[in-house]
Amino acid sequence: MTTTATEPLLSAEGVTVRFGGLTALDDVGIRAVPGTVTGLIGPNGAGKTTLFNVLSGVLRPTAGTVTWKGAPPPGRRPHHLARAGIARTFQGLNLFPMMTVLDNVVVGADRLAAGGPLSLLTGLGRHHRDERELRSRAMAALERFGAAEHAHQLPATLPYGVQKQVALARACVGEPEALLLDEPASGLSGGQIDALADQIRDFGRDMAVVLVEHHMDLVMRVCDHIVVLNFGRVISTGTPAQIQADPLVAQAYLGTSDDGAADPAPTAAPAPAADSAPDPDPGNGAAR
Ligand SMILES: Nc1ncnc2c1ncn2[C@@H]1O[C@H](COP(=O)(O)OP(=O)(O)OP(=O)(O)O)[C@@H](O)[C@H]1O
Ligand SMILES: [Mg+2]
Repeated sequence: MTTTATEPLLSAEGVTVRFGGLTALDDVGIRAVPGTVTGLIGPNGAGKTTLFNVLSGVLRPTAGTVTWKGAPPPGRRPHHLARAGIARTFQGLNLFPMMTVLDNVVVGADRLAAGGPLSLLTGLGRHHRDERELRSRAMAALERFGAAEHAHQLPATLPYGVQKQVALARACVGEPEALLLDEPASGLSGGQIDALADQIRDFGRDMAVVLVEHHMDLVMRVCDHIVVLNFGRVISTGTPAQIQADPLVAQAYLGTSDDGAADPAPTAAPAPAADSAPDPDPGNGAAR
């Protein structure tokens, strides 16, 4: 089935996820359309990362369906979906600490290796040639994301902002068609967030991008469409202007956080962030 620019490339419908007695997602839908950036926002614990985990095959929902190019995805596991063309970044960096920056990015290029035109052409020598080709693609990605000079260093030796760019390079090196970004601006300075906004708009020219972010200024600047979650339910959808004007959304952002302080509401200015700040949520594992 072919898709047009207004048809979703990746979508979820009626997705419910329960963890024991907790309903993390309740009948949630989202559509990621090529050439657009879809924001997925909501207070802490609303279910944003859980929905990314469903869309990327990390979690099987209790109910509901995920659709890729108008059909069921070609497999349910993360590597099936990655190979199909769905890439993600993680809340927290999730780079492999004992691998060089270059090797981290090579991992993301894997979907271009076996089974593509390259393997058809190269036959028995495929592994060496694949490896060379993937490394050269990974280097090109690092150049694009301004981190080529750090290719042979370990991630932890680099400033946080550079590590974030390496994570983006790893997600983009496989030339995905859908890109899920989980809090790409966390820990970045204002100037770095401005540069990130340009990058996200650039990704959104061709790809179907879904952006989870708490920096509302960034969300409002780059998103074409926004879905708002609260306690696992979609409470609002619309353009940035519609979301900013929705009293239900403002209400959701007031008085919902554990410490009594509200998350930044959608109309608020972006939260200040320190340059090269440590990951504010380093405890999150691979799927969070
Ligand atoms: N593996 C899990 N087991 C049990 N509960 C979980 C699991 N993953 C998430 N949850 C719970 O599901 C709810 C949604 O969590 P999720 O991480 O999706 O929220 P979020 O919107 O990404 O929040 P944040 O903005 O803080 O990242 C939370 O109550 C969380 O504690
Ligand atoms: Mg999250």
